[in-house]
Amino acid sequence: MREQGEEQKKLDVLSNEVFVKALVSSGRTCVLVSEENEAAIFVDAPLRGKYCVCFDPLDGSSNIDCGVSIGTIFGIYMIKDKDNATLEDVLQPGTNMIAAGYCMYGSSCTLVLSTGNGVNGFTLDPSLGEFILTHPNIKIPNKGKIYSVNEGNARNWDAPTAKYVERCKFPQDGSSPKSLRYIGSMVADVHRTLLYGGIFLYPADKKSPNGKLRVLYEVFPMSFLMEQAGGQSFTGKQRALEIVPYEIHQRSPIFLGSYDDVEEIKSLYASESSTA
Ligand code: AHG
Ligand code: MN
Ligand code: MN
Repeated sequence: MREQGEEQKKLDVLSNEVFVKALVSSGRTCVLVSEENEAAIFVDAPLRGKYCVCFDPLDGSSNIDCGVSIGTIFGIYMIKDKDNATLEDVLQPGTNMIAAGYCMYGSSCTLVLSTGNGVNGFTLDPSLGEFILTHPNIKIPNKGKIYSVNEGNARNWDAPTAKYVERCKFPQDGSSPKSLRYIGSMVADVHRTLLYGGIFLYPADKKSPNGKLRVLYEVFPMSFLMEQAGGQSFTGKQRALEIVPYEIHQRSPIFLGSYDDVEEIKSLYASESSTA
C-alpha cells in the first residue's frame, strides 16, 4: 500500500495485475496480500486453493528507469479452512510461512526459493524457457565484509544502529573496515548479502519508527530465506520471523544477514536495553 511520497510506477501496477491474475487463475490460492492492493484479495470459491500468498510484485521500482536490478518477493502460508478464509490466515508470524523466495530481474533472471529445507537458486535459460538449478543449497558465510544501509538516514538512527555502523567503519579490534554496498533495491541488496555474506539493515529512525520495509512481503520472506541459509534476521527487539502482524501492510525495522554480523547488532541492542 503506497503512502504519501511513495511513488507508484506504471510497472508496479502492471506487474501486480499479472501476478494477481496468475495466482487467482491457478486455482491454488485463497487469500492474496499485495503491496499494491490496500485490502487483501479473497479468491472466489470455485477457484479457491490452499495457499495464502503475500507478495511485493515489483520491489525496488524506483530503480527501473536507471536499469538497476529489481525483483518480486513472496511468502506463502497454508490456509486453515479455505471455506472460511479470513485475514487471520495472513496475520500469522513468519515462522508459520511454508515457503518464501524472490525473483531478481537483473543481468540474468534469478529465482531464489526455500520451502523450509534449505535455499536453492535457479537461473532462467531464455533459450529453453526453463529455470536451471545454478545455486544448489545456498549457505550464507557466517561473517561478511559488507554492510548495506542507506547512510543518508544516519542522523535519525538510534544509538545501537549508529554504534554498529560506526564499528563497521572504524573496527575496534584492528580488523579492516567493512565495505559499504547499497543498491536501494531490497532484492538486489539481499541477494548480494546471501551470496557474499555481510549485513543488510533498514533500521527504525526518528522519521519512521517502524522502518520502511513491510513485514508480510519484504521482511518475512527475506528473513525466512536468511535463516534457511544459516543466517539470521532481527528487528532490533526480536527475531523477525516471530513478529505477529496486526495489519497486512505493517512495517518493521530489519537487520539481516550473516549470523555473526547480526549477533553484533543484537548485543548492542541488548546492552542498550539493559542500561535503559
Ligand atoms: P518497493 O520498490 O517495493 O517500494 O521497495 C523499495 C524498498 C526496498 O526495495 C529498498 O530496500 C528500500 O525501498 C530502499 O529505500 P530507501 O530508498 O529509503 O533507501
Ligand atoms: Mn519492496
Ligand atoms: Mn514494490
